Amino acid sequence: MKLLSSIILSASLAMPAMAASTHKMTVETEESAGTISRHIYGHFAEHLGRGIYDGLWKKDDNGDYIIRDDVVDALKELGVPNLRWPGGCFADYYFWEDGIGPKDERPSVVNNLWGGVTEDNSVGTHEFMDLVAELETDPIVVGNVGSGTVEEMANWWQYINHPGNSPMSKLRAENGREKPWNVKYWGVGNESWGCGGNMRPEYYADLYRRFATFLHPYENVKPFRIAAGAAGADYNWTDVVMERAGDMIDGLDLHHYTIQGSWETHKGQAVDFDESDWFELMDRAIEMDEIITGHKKMMDKHDPEKRVWLIVGEWGTWHEQQEGSIPGFLYQQNTLRDALTASVTLDIFHQHLDRVKMANIAQTVNVLQAMILTDGEQMLLTPTYHVFDMYKVHRDATALKFKLNEGKYRYDGKSLPALSATASMDKEGRTHISLTNIDPNQARTVEIELEDMDNVNVSAGRILTAEAMNAHNTFDQPNNLVPVEFDGARVEDGKLIVDMPAKSLVTLTL
Ligand code: AHR
Repeated sequence: MKLLSSIILSASLAMPAMAASTHKMTVETEESAGTISRHIYGHFAEHLGRGIYDGLWKKDDNGDYIIRDDVVDALKELGVPNLRWPGGCFADYYFWEDGIGPKDERPSVVNNLWGGVTEDNSVGTHEFMDLVAELETDPIVVGNVGSGTVEEMANWWQYINHPGNSPMSKLRAENGREKPWNVKYWGVGNESWGCGGNMRPEYYADLYRRFATFLHPYENVKPFRIAAGAAGADYNWTDVVMERAGDMIDGLDLHHYTIQGSWETHKGQAVDFDESDWFELMDRAIEMDEIITGHKKMMDKHDPEKRVWLIVGEWGTWHEQQEGSIPGFLYQQNTLRDALTASVTLDIFHQHLDRVKMANIAQTVNVLQAMILTDGEQMLLTPTYHVFDMYKVHRDATALKFKLNEGKYRYDGKSLPALSATASMDKEGRTHISLTNIDPNQARTVEIELEDMDNVNVSAGRILTAEAMNAHNTFDQPNNLVPVEFDGARVEDGKLIVDMPAKSLVTLTL
């Protein structure tokens, strides 16, 4: 599928004239800040709303669910390094045995958490693994701790992974799959402080130890055991869980969403917002840095060797769901504002590569900050999809150390850093720089100094920007906001000069 190549415009034509301020950036091309794990660009697909049914799958003429080719093609184009499933909160309500065997014999369940809809378990383990194979991605399976038993989880692990002769591998073969799937990333519960059982960290740590004990390594796969991490800034959760169970944990799954407004009263609107809302959402997105720093401190206390990954297993913007959409389905539009919160958040992850090795934006299709929205047979790529696409160059690359005079975006007597960046070097030795200007009013010129400037030239550049803060794509205008070729970068007097319009993201290849 040719997603973008047909839409090459000159961005400079569309830019309004504005006074730019100048900022210095120095990139240390010889200094590594760590490897940017591709797993930071992971995704999440829960049985929620129209994410699974009517998102990744659709009904065929016989009423059976089949994988949507158009959605899968777009995701393959993007590259999905991992996919977390079946939840989210749903994971602790999920009984995997309901989702295997002949479809007409699978029991139905009511998805009480998300819209109260009846789930007929059409998509279960085999169907998910088929999707994983098509996407060529690494699955992350989250087991049920909140309402399940150790035996159930251990059996699921055995069903998915056992290579030899065992009760569960026999059952798997009876259901049409001889070979094990070799799934190594395994979540032991989800949000166990909340929808996953409302536990205290002390209790969860003990329970975690017990459940994790029965995920036995086989010769084909050793479990990478992921514990339910904290909610946002709950550092005590991390402290207690790491202290009591850290020796059995491989990854700790922190969840933090970016909301404007409040959880208790009213969240902000996805499209209908003003600059005060823009500023607030950017402010909340930047909080991710402080939150990761706080959890890292706790993890360092109990794991100074930094063996345990900090996984940001759910992140992204969460707005009031679109008016008229089914309550509990968390369907929201996605604008330039969401896109820039995503690029800023990815930049933050890249500042913490010593711990942050995996992350999952929520959720892939039709739910929260999705990559793709669908309506019947139609689909569109969101601005956030385009951010992930522009950042592809950083995956598995070496992050480069840099200094950036980030300037200030001022609003109503408050201020935020205006600029954010990532610089990396790929395996072929190309340097890639991404710059985000969150200021919706002020253009910025960035003067970049790199070592060996004589040999630097800009070989490619793309920009994502728009006149309107709430620019977005619709089913009528799916290409309203897409990256276009960027011609605002040049080498001059031994410096790389980048003219960043207000509210824009630029990625350059040098
Ligand atoms: O992503 C939506 C929900 O947010 C997930 O089910 C839950 O884990 C989190 O609270």
